[in-house]
Amino acid sequence: MSAYQNLVIFYFSGTGNAKRAAEWIAEIAERMNVNTQLINIDRFRKIEIPKLEGRTLIGFCSPTHGFNLPPIMLKFLWKFPQGKQTDVFILNTRAGMKLSKLFLPGLSGVAQIYAALMLIVKGYSVRGMQPIDLPSNWISLHPGLKQKVVASMFERYEKITKKFAERILGGGSKYKALSSLPVDLALAPIALGYYMIGRFAIAKTFYAGNACTKCGLCEKQCPVGAIKMIQGRPYWTFSCESCMRCMNNCPVRAIQVSQTFSIVVWYLLISLFMPWALRKFYGFNFINFNTNTWLANFSEDIILWLMSLVVIWMIYKVTHYCLKFPIFNNLITYTSFTKYKFWRRYRGLKAR
Ligand SMILES: Cc1cc2nc3c(=O)[nH]c(=O)nc-3n(C[C@H](O)[C@H](O)[C@H](O)COP(=O)(O)O)c2cc1C
Repeated sequence: MSAYQNLVIFYFSGTGNAKRAAEWIAEIAERMNVNTQLINIDRFRKIEIPKLEGRTLIGFCSPTHGFNLPPIMLKFLWKFPQGKQTDVFILNTRAGMKLSKLFLPGLSGVAQIYAALMLIVKGYSVRGMQPIDLPSNWISLHPGLKQKVVASMFERYEKITKKFAERILGGGSKYKALSSLPVDLALAPIALGYYMIGRFAIAKTFYAGNACTKCGLCEKQCPVGAIKMIQGRPYWTFSCESCMRCMNNCPVRAIQVSQTFSIVVWYLLISLFMPWALRKFYGFNFINFNTNTWLANFSEDIILWLMSLVVIWMIYKVTHYCLKFPIFNNLITYTSFTKYKFWRRYRGLKAR
């Protein structure tokens, strides 16, 4: 018997893990005769909470990106209407791994804490905070896990998710996420770094190789509309969340990550260009960095940050233009590990 008449889950999912977790919770809710709705927040414009009779539980399911929730979910929570002590839960799927028989957890960073704080400030009562360590989908960093490993992780975390659902829907509470609070708080500076620059840099490592058929599927499926077709080729804008959907779903495996090329070029340009540009600023006395006040240091950091973004943007613009030349395209493609067969795409398990 559930303590709620209704369950509404808002979810965002790049490659299906967070969606599966939301579906497992919905399965339990339906078994308990709770009226259930799953709402995908891809490309959301307006937030509407369904008006329902009786007691309602609201859930938020999302992956973890850069030790935080992805920007689309943060924006969604930021814009979410005020609540009158309505009960909510937060579930973040993380990068689980498996070493032999050992299941290794991912790291939430501020994903749970920040979301919980936003919801508390808005007047909600947080009843559950649960991380779920489904397989890592970060295939720009590592090849997708093998299907056998994926299957065993899904089996394990389905049980854990359903147990969590039974507890919360039964009227209880569970704050599993708080058990790693010290580690999560220590990761806050990295989460900020990822939010301010990491995600923009990663977005600008995607490109389409010569195999691209210009079918436009990546543009159509992008959950935040970050891919534009420019000169008949997909172009990743700064609003890309690196959710990995485009790369996983490309029917001809044409979407790659320019690992070697980007690292070499960024290193050269940022290490050579930045000191030169800063010296220019000093020279023109554009900003007087010689005073050692916090304001001078802060201004220097902001200028460095903006310049890094501009450099990354410029490199990407030029690279995108040059990709239309097959020789250049091949050079980048063959120096990308993602091109090779051993670099598996991530395949989560579909609903049974
Ligand atoms: C860009 C990116 C950043 C990620 N950052 C983290 C992280 O900080 N901590 C973590 O445990 N997992 C991280 N992951 C792994 C995903 O959160 C995890 O695989 C999640 O289950 C994917 O869910 P989805 O299939 O619903 O998108 C990251 C994945 C990507 C693509």
